[in-house]
Amino acid sequence: MTIPFNKPYLSGREEEYLRDALQSRAHCGNRTYTEKCIRLMKEKYGFGEVFLTPSCTAAMEMGAMLADLSPGDEVILPSWTFSSTANAVVLRGAKPVFCDVDPKTMNIDVTLIEGLITERTRLIMPIDYMGIPCDMDVISAIAQRHNLMVLEDAAQSFHSYLNGNPCGTHATMAAFSFHESKNLSCGEGGALIVNDPALVERAAFLQEKGTDRSLVIKGLRAKYGWVDIGSSFLLADLLAAVLFAQLEAVDEIVTLRSRITAGYYDLYQPYADKGYLALPIIPENVLLNHHAYFVIFDTDENQQRFLKLCRDRDVYPFRGYLPLHSSVMGRKFGYQPEEVPMTEALSERIVRLPFYTDLANEGLEICLEAMRAVLQELYGC
Ligand SMILES: Cc1ncc(COP(=O)(O)O)c(C=O)c1O
Repeated sequence: MTIPFNKPYLSGREEEYLRDALQSRAHCGNRTYTEKCIRLMKEKYGFGEVFLTPSCTAAMEMGAMLADLSPGDEVILPSWTFSSTANAVVLRGAKPVFCDVDPKTMNIDVTLIEGLITERTRLIMPIDYMGIPCDMDVISAIAQRHNLMVLEDAAQSFHSYLNGNPCGTHATMAAFSFHESKNLSCGEGGALIVNDPALVERAAFLQEKGTDRSLVIKGLRAKYGWVDIGSSFLLADLLAAVLFAQLEAVDEIVTLRSRITAGYYDLYQPYADKGYLALPIIPENVLLNHHAYFVIFDTDENQQRFLKLCRDRDVYPFRGYLPLHSSVMGRKFGYQPEEVPMTEALSERIVRLPFYTDLANEGLEICLEAMRAVLQELYGC
C-alpha cells in the first residue's frame, strides 16, 4: 500500500452541496454557500469579519493591501514559511525582514522580533507552523508597544486554539488556507479574517476589485463604482459549497487526525528520549488541530537516509519548506544563509511525516510499521 504525503478527505456531503450550488445558477462569490460558511465560522469561532478568498495566498495579498503596505515599509516574518507569506509583502513593494525560528515548534522566535524592528516596520506576519499557534500573546504585546499591525498566516491552523481562543481571533487579521493539503479543503480556497471593525468596509472594497459593490448589495448605493485598489479576491460559491461540507465535519476530521499524532508520538518519542531526534513540543495552552507532524533528525545524512528508506517502502514523508532568506529571491534582498542560522541548519534535518485524515482509518499501522523498520535501520534499535 502506498502512503502518500497528503490526500484530501471527503466528509460525504460535498457532492450534494455542490449539486445544489450548481442548480442555484448563482455560482460567483458571496452567494448562498459563502454566506453559510461565513455564518458557521463566525458563530463557532467568534471571528470578526470573514472574507472567503481563492486561496490563503490571495487572503494575505488582500491583508497586505488592507495594512496599507507601501514601498520602503518593512515586514517581519519567519524565513521558515511558504513563498506566499513573503510575496504578499513584496507585491506591495515592501521589504521582508526574516526572523529565525524556535526549534521547539519551528514558529517565529518571539525573543528575536524586537531586535528586527526599525522605524520602517509596519507589520508582523507570524505563521502557525504545523497548526501550532505561535505565541500571539507576546507578538501582540510587541505589536502594541511599537504600534504595528499583525497579520497571522494561519494557513495551517484552522481549528487550533491558544488559551482557549481559536486561531484567527488573536491578530488584527488572519489568513486561512483550504488548499487540498490542509485539514479542510475545497481544492483551492482561503479566508481573510478581519478583526478590526475599522478595516471591514475597505476589505469588502478590496475583495470586489476595488469597487463599492458591497454597499449596493446592502442597499446603501444604487450603483457601484471604482473607489479603491483591489482585485478579484472572491471564492466561487461552487467551491464554498464544498467547503461548507468540510466545515460541518471539522470536529470529526480533527478527532480522526488526532489518532495520527498519537501514533507518531508513540513511535518517535523513545528515539527522542535517546537523543536521536527532536519532536515538536506543543505548549500546554495549545489545543492542536492535528494538521501535521515533524521530526528533526540528528544529522543531515540521517534526514536523507530516512527519506530514501521510507520511499523504498512506498511511504512518502516530505522535506518541507526551503528557507526563504537563502532562496533565489531571499538573496535578491541581500540575505546570506548564515544570517538566519537556526532555520538554515534545521532545514537540512527536518522531515514532515505523511498526514491526511483518511490515514487514521486506513494505512496508519502500515505507515508506522514501515517507519519502525526504517528507524531500526538508522539507529540499530
Ligand atoms: C504558511 C503557509 N502560508 C500560505 C500557504 C499558501 O496557501 P494557499 O495554497 O491556500 O495559497 C501555505 C501553503 O501550504 C503555507 O504553508
